[in-house]
Amino acid sequence: MPDRHQPAEDAANAASAFGVSAAQIEQAAARLDAGELVAFPTETVYGLGGDAENPDAVARIYAAKGRPANHPVIVHLAPHGDPNYWVEYLPADAQRLIDAFWPGPLTLILKRAARIPAAVSGGQDSVGLRCPSHPVAQALLDAFSALRGGHGGVAAPSANRFGHVSPTTAQHVRDEFGGTIHVLDGGASDVGIESTIVDLSRGFPALLRPGRVTPQDIAEVLGEAPRLPDGSDATAPRASGTLKAHYAPRTPLALLPFDELEPLLAVREAGERVALVARASRAGQWADADGVHFVAAPEDPHIYARELYGLLRALDRANVTRILIEKLPETIEWIAVNDRLGRAAAAFEAQG
Ligand code: TXA
Ligand code: MG
Repeated sequence: MPDRHQPAEDAANAASAFGVSAAQIEQAAARLDAGELVAFPTETVYGLGGDAENPDAVARIYAAKGRPANHPVIVHLAPHGDPNYWVEYLPADAQRLIDAFWPGPLTLILKRAARIPAAVSGGQDSVGLRCPSHPVAQALLDAFSALRGGHGGVAAPSANRFGHVSPTTAQHVRDEFGGTIHVLDGGASDVGIESTIVDLSRGFPALLRPGRVTPQDIAEVLGEAPRLPDGSDATAPRASGTLKAHYAPRTPLALLPFDELEPLLAVREAGERVALVARASRAGQWADADGVHFVAAPEDPHIYARELYGLLRALDRANVTRILIEKLPETIEWIAVNDRLGRAAAAFEAQG
């Protein structure tokens, strides 16, 4: 586990190894201080950041994304940032998860301190906190925090328009917003999907969003499995059906077991070009079929997650009429990928 308390100078040096200079970090921090927005890389996805304690900056985030103002955003803390500043109290379970997983892809939902403006949590009495591990994010958060006496936090949802696929490169962010948003380019995000979210504000741990940190990882630290929003055990395989449409590409997408994909592939209309995303081990004859744009999906869940959003964006440009994706096993190692694929497909089921 990396040291969460490395000095700011080290963070700036580490950021320059990712192609972002100390001067660029200082300028970006000054923009945040002035209430402007800055998109920055994290290990999960790129974030669209603004000063978490400035309601005007938070309103700018909502406006840029086209997101409803009652949706809470996650507050990102510097490596040496103090979570106590943001919360009414820090439960022992929160400290355990922080010690185990920060900096890293885990967001905690806690009771918000009265001094923190409600805008950042969409008016709710809670706040989402995360300390990212990406060196560029850390350098930016360090520099901004320093401008605020060590307590600055950056509110940042994923840097995409509402409902669209999260960005995992700086180019994805530019594709979303054109030149209107200042972007720090720190290379491709390593995890590739958004952080795991655990709610500790209700007296028991609940998994709000699966991610790289798994329910088992959490259970090992807490000695108790996080519950799903419906009250069930989050270490059990997740049932689909409760998924809300989100994270969707523009091209119609369907997620089906391989034996249901095959009939669809067989009855393609003349001239129709279909993308097929499947693990190579299962694709069989369809990998080389005419009119099928075959994409060999990674066999490993972490690599699948890393490549997923970039793949969906690429397929939007691939001149195909439909995207068909092989349904993956309903096992715990695939829980986060299944969650995102299920949401992407749900966007089109909802349209009928
Ligand atoms: O990996 C990530 O978490 C990325 C990077 C940029 O850090 N951020 C991200 O933010 O995914 P966003 O806004 O796309 O997702 C934030 C989600 C909200 O939709 C909500 O579900 C949850 O986090 N959330 C944040 N604050 C909350 C709160 N106070 N109460 C309940 N849920 C909250
Ligand atoms: Mg998002």
